[in-house]
Amino acid sequence: MFSNLKLNDNEAIYIQIKDHISSMIDKGLIPNNSKLPSTRELSQLLNVSRNSVVLAYEELKSEGIIYSISGKGTFAKSKKNLPDSIWNINWDCLENDYSKTANKMDIVKNEIPWRKDLISFKSISPNGELFDIEELKKSFLNRLSIEGHKILNYGYAQGYKPLIDYLLKYMNAKGVDTANKDILITNGFTEGLDLLLSSFIKKGDYIICENPTHNTAIKIFKSLGLNIIGIDINNNGLDFDMLEENLNNLKDKKIKFAYITPSYHNPTGIVMSPENRYKFYNIMKKHNIAIIEDGFNEELLYSSSHIFPIASLDNGSNGVIYIGSFSKILFPGLRIGWILCDKQVISKLESVKRCKNIHVSFLDQGILYDYLSNGGFEKYVKKIRKFYGDKFTFAYECVNKYIPNEYVLGDGGLHIFIKLKNIDSRSLLLKCHENGVIFMPGDIFYVNNSHNDTIRLGFSRLTFEEIESGIKTIGNIIKEIAK
Ligand SMILES: Cc1ncc(COP(=O)(O)O)c(C=O)c1O
Repeated sequence: MFSNLKLNDNEAIYIQIKDHISSMIDKGLIPNNSKLPSTRELSQLLNVSRNSVVLAYEELKSEGIIYSISGKGTFAKSKKNLPDSIWNINWDCLENDYSKTANKMDIVKNEIPWRKDLISFKSISPNGELFDIEELKKSFLNRLSIEGHKILNYGYAQGYKPLIDYLLKYMNAKGVDTANKDILITNGFTEGLDLLLSSFIKKGDYIICENPTHNTAIKIFKSLGLNIIGIDINNNGLDFDMLEENLNNLKDKKIKFAYITPSYHNPTGIVMSPENRYKFYNIMKKHNIAIIEDGFNEELLYSSSHIFPIASLDNGSNGVIYIGSFSKILFPGLRIGWILCDKQVISKLESVKRCKNIHVSFLDQGILYDYLSNGGFEKYVKKIRKFYGDKFTFAYECVNKYIPNEYVLGDGGLHIFIKLKNIDSRSLLLKCHENGVIFMPGDIFYVNNSHNDTIRLGFSRLTFEEIESGIKTIGNIIKEIAK
């Protein structure tokens, strides 16, 4: 502010200071209401007597150019609040395809928002009331005292080593041979998928996925300019005939990846059988198409025993990229997920992660590691399985009792998927909204927004009473529409 003020001997010092400040304020270089240095600071800075500065400030005040607030300081009073002309960049023209697609497909902006007085079946977030906050507080203090200032400084792009080692053992226990594999910690599943695809695909490449599938995955595929080959899922699971047919028809196309959620698939809740996992793995291997396995919901099994992830079939090979996340059971707000795959691929992704955002918060990773490794996690998973399992069974019964349907899908997880009988889910949603109930219309999960006769009901944050009352309302409105 004062570096270009060169004082001379021809004029009184206080006048030169006054003129300088006045001209800076006039040009807008000292913004309105911004604080000026105190008279002591400025006299030291300019190496002049304090009296000269006091005099300059007095004159400026009397001319209404600056003002003082007792105990706070002296401030500029500029009349020049707005520049001479408005600068108006046309951001719509500059926006790229990634942003356009992300905005167009942003369900938070485009769908009916949650409101306290609504029974909302929209969300499949975990119920935060189950979180073990006391244990987490202990983990926070424990990790901070073990790691001290180190955990608050820059860390490593690959992630917090104790957490990586924990997750390697965790994956081992799921039957995955981790000998030639490594892990990169990511900001949840979502960043893992985006990081992987933006590192290995070119605009126009092809990707296979289940249809319907996770809306965020479709959004990322479309934002990156991928051609999507959706393979139907219906009440018999994945349509393998359609898969083979597409692979034969698209032989000359570069299909780089196949994205699949074999356990408690979103939105259908279907669990792929071990036989079908084996079949899928071998088809992809034959066609040399890398599999992206989404393991997000694996922990939420309620009845059958654990089914091994597809990654466990890939022992010694490098064709499966497993992306994991605890988001549906533990602290999704911590935004911690992981990619497990071939060491060489992790090394490449580590550099991309460093380039994009350096690393996931080490404090968050440290707290999560402490929490996971202190023994309470298994107990917690048992507790939530019972909690969600009971709700799932109840919601499933209510759907079959109250909602006329073609079929209902769901083997577990935090949601149920319903195919209605010739009912448009969008009109149904509007009517339900008027009656205090909202849900996810199924079309957002289809690669071409089709199937507007389907809906997804998430129940994790609702009470039994709300589940029954909400499902009854949906059923009654369907019956009215069908009349
Ligand atoms: C299919 C699927 N995968 C993964 C996730 C978790 O994503 P994140 O870990 O980024 O919260 C979700 C969350 O809804 C999901 O539906």
